Amino acid sequence: MKVCVIGTGYVGLVTGACLAHSGHHVICVDNNEEKVKLMKSGQSPIYEPGLSEIMQGASQAGRLEFTSDLAMGVDHGDILFIAVGTPALPSGDSDTRYVEAVARGIGKHLTEGYKVIVNKSTVPIGSGDWVRRIVLDGIEDRQKAGEGGVSGEEALKKINAEFDVVSNPEFLRECSAVYDTFNPDRIVLGSNSEKAIAMMQELYLPIVERKFGEDRSLPPVPVVVTDLSSAEMIKYAANAFLATKISFINEVANICDKVGADVTQVAKGIGLDSRIGKKFLQAGIGWGGSCFPKDVSALIHTAKDYNYETELLNAAVNVNQRQRAIAVDKLQQELKILKGKVVGLLGLTFKPDTDDLRDAPSLILMDELNRLGAKVKAYDPIISQTGMRHGLPG
Ligand SMILES: NC(=O)c1ccc[n+]([C@@H]2O[C@H](COP(=O)([O-])OP(=O)(O)OC[C@H]3O[C@@H](n4cnc5c(N)ncnc54)[C@H](O)[C@@H]3O)[C@@H](O)[C@H]2O)c1
Repeated sequence: MKVCVIGTGYVGLVTGACLAHSGHHVICVDNNEEKVKLMKSGQSPIYEPGLSEIMQGASQAGRLEFTSDLAMGVDHGDILFIAVGTPALPSGDSDTRYVEAVARGIGKHLTEGYKVIVNKSTVPIGSGDWVRRIVLDGIEDRQKAGEGGVSGEEALKKINAEFDVVSNPEFLRECSAVYDTFNPDRIVLGSNSEKAIAMMQELYLPIVERKFGEDRSLPPVPVVVTDLSSAEMIKYAANAFLATKISFINEVANICDKVGADVTQVAKGIGLDSRIGKKFLQAGIGWGGSCFPKDVSALIHTAKDYNYETELLNAAVNVNQRQRAIAVDKLQQELKILKGKVVGLLGLTFKPDTDDLRDAPSLILMDELNRLGAKVKAYDPIISQTGMRHGLPG
């Protein structure tokens, strides 16, 4: 199938490369010319195990191209993925301006025929209908500039174009993004259009049938077909649950410290209960990274819009914030005075095997240690190798 992926970050580039590897013809679009230049030369702008190999193979087979020309991508793709960032605003709400710019751009360049526009970015609940409206605004802008005075729906008919929006949230984990794309636990598709869902099912068939998966004898990947809002909510609910699970074990760890119990033994003991499961039960300095903090706060923010106070999620966030302070408290208990001490920080990204420093807990620890007068010497195996693409504070 002919696919265009707009935004080539951790999600977009991995999705584009893996779809190309599985036989589709993919054009990846990014408005960052530097990134496009790098990808055209066969290099990945991000560190993700196995990604460069897949990119090079698919590019050599002629199934993967890179461009900064949105018009070219929109013209090529029958399926257009929006995979740009949705960082948190200071209010905690999701910043959807990049999604908006892409949706408007799609409208501006939409050509004759039927297209499926896929929200791969994590977007607030209700964004499916909003994206449709923005795309129509984009078409309307174009018509206004040309002949004037037509609505988006009329303009759509005039150019003989049709499109539907699908929500297809992403669950990959940075550090195993390629593996996760070929071995997903589930694929979620939200739309009110049967035609769009059928095209998405065809697109994902090689992955559903585990053609590139680790174990081809496993049953097909479950596909959850639902409405737009439920699909959008599934993404937020999944991340909020995982973040809460980590906060839960951190709370238990703090009580363990008081009563003299060993949290690693406790986590093992409860994790063997199949209703609980052993994953996400490692106590530590709390969750961070580019997804959990912003997605949990976006869900809290959405609930607020409906006058609903999220007691449990607020507590998960508070426990998480306190957890970083506990690490510094423990140091103070041991060293008494931190001023003038040199503190080594080993491992800076929010988890191993990624170069993503966004919202990494280490950054907060560094700031706090600096504030208390300690000198921080930091090392990370990936950041030290790949350079500081995401910028590290002094
Ligand atoms: N990173 C993850 O692990 C992960 C997992 C699941 C879901 N998500 C979601 O996926 C989305 C993308 O996340 P990411 O981590 O890949 O982001 P990212 O910041 O790594 O990549 C976004 C890319 O979009 C490009 N871009 C921005 N505006 C553009 C425009 N107008 N036209 C073309 N390209 C544009 C940027 O240059 C960048 O390369 C977010 O909504 C995120 O919440 C991320």
